[in-house]
Amino acid sequence: MAQKTAARHAEKFPTPAKIAITLRVNGVDHQLELAPWTTLLDALRDHLDLTGTKKGCDHGQCGACTVLADGRRINSCLALAVMKDGAAITTIEGLAQGSTLHALQQAFIEHDAFQCGYCTPGQICSAAGLIAEGRAATADEIRELMSGNICRCGAYPNILAAIESVLARGGTAASETNGEAGR
Ligand code: FES
Ligand code: FES
Repeated sequence: MAQKTAARHAEKFPTPAKIAITLRVNGVDHQLELAPWTTLLDALRDHLDLTGTKKGCDHGQCGACTVLADGRRINSCLALAVMKDGAAITTIEGLAQGSTLHALQQAFIEHDAFQCGYCTPGQICSAAGLIAEGRAATADEIRELMSGNICRCGAYPNILAAIESVLARGGTAASETNGEAGR
């Protein structure tokens, strides 16, 4: 009986086939075959082994999973990978140029802008997107426009100082330091 019910269910709701997509991540094309419900976050972490992007809430609430998609910052836990077929994705692993850190990475170190570091990749990717947007000039604007990135350690004053310091130096946009980010 149970078997028949399961068979009827499978007939009515067949499992969708995997979908072939291409993600250009940190300048490298990756061909992937993914179940259609795979999030961009899981594609990066579980299929490409790019674990710098963190899973916090998995519900769009914390910003730990922030990456840049075609230069715009997004919560990768809320985007299906198939929606980003053909997109250029930049993760925290793609911001540095060889051994030269991105200006924001350097500033976060100089300003001690982290404690446990779990939120830091998302904070830095989000700040790179913020700078590229060119909308934040004051401390309050930075606070407001970074409010989607939660830091459970409360490193907010230092995060703000780090971002302000990069903006004060003319705001090295991600597009200036990485060919994919900021496009
Ligand atoms: Fe994506 Fe929290 S893990 S917003
Ligand atoms: Fe620990 Fe931000 S440094 S959550």
